[in-house]
Amino acid sequence: MSENDSQWWRDAVIYQVYPRSYADANGDGVGDIAGIRARLGHLRDLGVDAIWMSPWYPSPMADAGYDVADFRDIDPAFGTLAEAEALVEEAHEAGIRMIVDIVPNHISSEHPWFKAALASPDAPERDYFWFRPGRGEHGDEMPTDWRGEFGGTTWTRTGDGSWYLHLFTPEQPDLNWDHPDVRAEFESILRFWFDRGVDGIRIDSAALLLKDPELPEVLDDNPHPFHDLDGVHEVYRSWRRVADSYGGDRALIGEVWMPEVERFANYLRPDELHAAFNFDFLGCAWDPRLMRECVDRTLDAHAVVGAPTTWVLSNHDVTRHVTRYGREDTTFSFDNNLDGTPVDLELGTRRARAAALLSLSLPGATYIYQGEELGLWENENIPPEQFQDPMWGRRGHSRDGCRVPLPWTGDEAPFGFTTATPWLPQPAEWKDRTAQAQTGDPSSMLELYRSAIALRRTESFADFSWLELGRDVLAFCRGQAFACVVNMSGAPIALPAHQSVLLASGPLDGDRLPPDTAVWLRMTS
Ligand code: GLC
Repeated sequence: MSENDSQWWRDAVIYQVYPRSYADANGDGVGDIAGIRARLGHLRDLGVDAIWMSPWYPSPMADAGYDVADFRDIDPAFGTLAEAEALVEEAHEAGIRMIVDIVPNHISSEHPWFKAALASPDAPERDYFWFRPGRGEHGDEMPTDWRGEFGGTTWTRTGDGSWYLHLFTPEQPDLNWDHPDVRAEFESILRFWFDRGVDGIRIDSAALLLKDPELPEVLDDNPHPFHDLDGVHEVYRSWRRVADSYGGDRALIGEVWMPEVERFANYLRPDELHAAFNFDFLGCAWDPRLMRECVDRTLDAHAVVGAPTTWVLSNHDVTRHVTRYGREDTTFSFDNNLDGTPVDLELGTRRARAAALLSLSLPGATYIYQGEELGLWENENIPPEQFQDPMWGRRGHSRDGCRVPLPWTGDEAPFGFTTATPWLPQPAEWKDRTAQAQTGDPSSMLELYRSAIALRRTESFADFSWLELGRDVLAFCRGQAFACVVNMSGAPIALPAHQSVLLASGPLDGDRLPPDTAVWLRMTS
């Protein structure tokens, strides 16, 4: 890693590792750090620039680790702090940066602060949370009627009669970001990980931290008493000062779900976060007009603040895009498909291959969710009694189908993931989707990703401009020499004049580009 790539986050390929499901080395059916270290070669061969590690801290796992009991250690199910440090070092040796996930909106109800707060109404730790008396004569009505992010109510009553706020599950009490100790604690946590050589922080639920202290109800003219309050920017300005004090190559990457692009861009001002996930793109339907509008909206919003764009197709919270793109409604969903919506996996795979070339050649950074490079689809056949996601109990959706352990080798589950029973079942059909089965097969998803990432390193992508090839075709140039063409129409199209095809997401039809197929072209000058 040289000096001149100090702004690495601007165009990196960042791979999300979901540690429970990457690889299990200790044979308990749950992935761990030793498993990640043993299979780091997969990421080196894929050519990614950085790993974003979903939470690996001690946690009762009420929300798969997004309920953190101690931000300065590792959950024994995943390993030890020494192993985490060794992984950071080994990743760096392989030229891969490390991003850890910090969850500032809430902590686990097993965190010492919350245990102290519950132990006595007079404990100073109470002020680190949102404890409030109830409404009504007996205080037995919740302080507000806010609906939670997972559905359901947002207050739980304690033994002494008061209520505490949790925008997610009751095991995830919200922190009070108006308290200076909370701010100081998180700055210290950032330093803890930066001191260990970590290159970036992914910030969970970044827009939620502050709450209107008056606790107004959610009304049409005040829909956001706990979302995107202006004061949150001061928090990120102070985090930016912490990050910058490490020489300018540490990145802050926000999970900011925000329909209003101007409000979204506020998080990316030069003294705040370096980047944020593009959920607009993730949620966009497979539709040329909508995709083009989304790309334009993204580029415009980021240009205003000079921030790099990001392109994200899947993550651990949403239906895998092979499945989404194989449905009639291709937009975003959190789903376990209990209603049996038909899915055409062949079509979804074809589109996902085209989307890989699209997302890897648009300007900015690209995020890959583990298994996307293997062409995995959502496991929609997990029996509900095996669901572990708390969203299932509260909202009737489960995110487990996108969290299924990766298939590495062999013809049968658990496909080299573990020697035990994996914590979620893998589809038998994944025998063709193992990393082993795909390696060396030029028509595989894995080799497509490897080739695309390798080419992306050697191509010098320059200025973006649209290429007009018809209403149902998404085509653009990156400078004079390179073009990406995605055929979203139902029929083959003629390719523009070009020198050579650098890479195609599927077989061409003579000189024509079949539907739901993309190519990278070297253009004639
Ligand atoms: C984020 C995470 C999600 C988690 C939630 C609460 O949205 O991505 O997995 O459940 O925050 O921490």
